[in-house]
Amino acid sequence: MNRVYIKTYGCQMNERDSEAVAAMLRARGYAIVSHEDEADVVLLNTCSVRDQAEQKAIGKAGQMIKLKRKRPHLLVGIMGCMAQNRGRELLDRLPDLDLLVGTQKFHHVPDHLENIVSAIQAHGPRPSTIVDLEEEAGSQNTIRPHLEGAEDEKKVSAFVSIMQGCNMQCAYCIVPTTRGEERCRPIAAIVEEVVELAARGAKEITLLGQIVNSYGRREVPFVGKISPFVQLLEAVHAVDGVERIRFTSPHPRGFKEDLIEAFGRLPKLGSYVHLPLQSGSDSILKAMNRPYTQEAFRRIVASLRQVVPGLYLSTDIIVGFPGETDEDFEATRAFFEEMAFDQGFIFKYSVRPGTTAAPLGDPIAKEIKEARNQVLLDLLEKQSLRRHTALIGQVEMVLVEAPARRGEGLYMGRTAGYRKVLFPGRERLIGALVPVKITEASASHMMGQLEVSE
Ligand code: 5AD
Ligand code: SF4
Repeated sequence: MNRVYIKTYGCQMNERDSEAVAAMLRARGYAIVSHEDEADVVLLNTCSVRDQAEQKAIGKAGQMIKLKRKRPHLLVGIMGCMAQNRGRELLDRLPDLDLLVGTQKFHHVPDHLENIVSAIQAHGPRPSTIVDLEEEAGSQNTIRPHLEGAEDEKKVSAFVSIMQGCNMQCAYCIVPTTRGEERCRPIAAIVEEVVELAARGAKEITLLGQIVNSYGRREVPFVGKISPFVQLLEAVHAVDGVERIRFTSPHPRGFKEDLIEAFGRLPKLGSYVHLPLQSGSDSILKAMNRPYTQEAFRRIVASLRQVVPGLYLSTDIIVGFPGETDEDFEATRAFFEEMAFDQGFIFKYSVRPGTTAAPLGDPIAKEIKEARNQVLLDLLEKQSLRRHTALIGQVEMVLVEAPARRGEGLYMGRTAGYRKVLFPGRERLIGALVPVKITEASASHMMGQLEVSE
């Protein structure tokens, strides 16, 4: 009963939470396996941000529960955002579920599993579903133990959660419901984790939070004009061994001068920023309850480009929000082109029951959403190909992450602008920053050759 398969849906925060659960289970003697067929326990770490994500996880859970007919000892659990969002309602559809664990309760998973297993071993009746969904004060401080038992995993690029929850009220978004009130970890605890990760070979640290630039607003005082988030960046920047620092996601509202200026003096921040725009139309931004305008976004990006020449910019866009007219979408399209985003995540609006936009329904036809989505994807492809092509012949410093998935002796690394580069390399280069001359470009990545110093 000790082989666990964890399947993760959704964002990097979820990936990070799954890593933490895996590490806690390993520390208790469980083996983490990479396929459900080999598992005694299947845990789905779920996402609620769009309906499709929920449907996928529900479908998978249904399949796993059916498997119990053939493998009666199989345990199936749902964790994370959908567990939090749909709660006991899930049990109506999936009564044979063993475990339902919310977003503030990941650290209890090992105890819950142990309880179920010992009940089964005592030959008692199958215990009813364990449901653990309440809020838990201080849960943000339980998100560290992913380091325990993970000696075998030496990652070049590591994620660190700096906070949980979200206090904004974007009209479309379920996250404040699934992840609760904003809660921050202390700077010292985060730095300690980064030091340990660096000691294990991590070279790139990605700081994770729903809205990272509101980090510590209530707990940590400003130092002069320096916000708590920038203080945190400074502290992480000072850690030896860390070569690059990224963060996701900031909100345009709190993207102030101190953060822009930090890019000028903290070289490990590189030249990449992910800044969710959501829409380029002021009236849709207002309807979304996103408290900024197109012009405010333009100003932030202009200041950033002054400090970081050659900035690589990424964004999130939602198409088909209720009331989005052709003119609104045209404003988004034109602005998307003007900003010349290098990377983008384009989403079709999905109604989330319980959000403030839910009463507006879903009036934009599927075909229109699909068409708008495609327009932006085409534009993105063009923009990113243009940017990559311009680099042909140039030498970029590449942080080597891993062998490329396609094999062929190729290795994958990323530039300071977070662009993917494949090049013929060697195992020992993993974790090193190496000069690579760009030889070919496509929209998704570039190819290159190691530049050997004479
Ligand atoms: N429908 C579509 N996309 C959404 N996002 C958040 N909520 C929704 C929704 N209801 C997108 C936003 C956010 C990203 C993580 O997911 O663009 O930045
Ligand atoms: Fe991540 Fe949001 Fe999905 Fe939760 S709902 S997994 S926070 S994207």
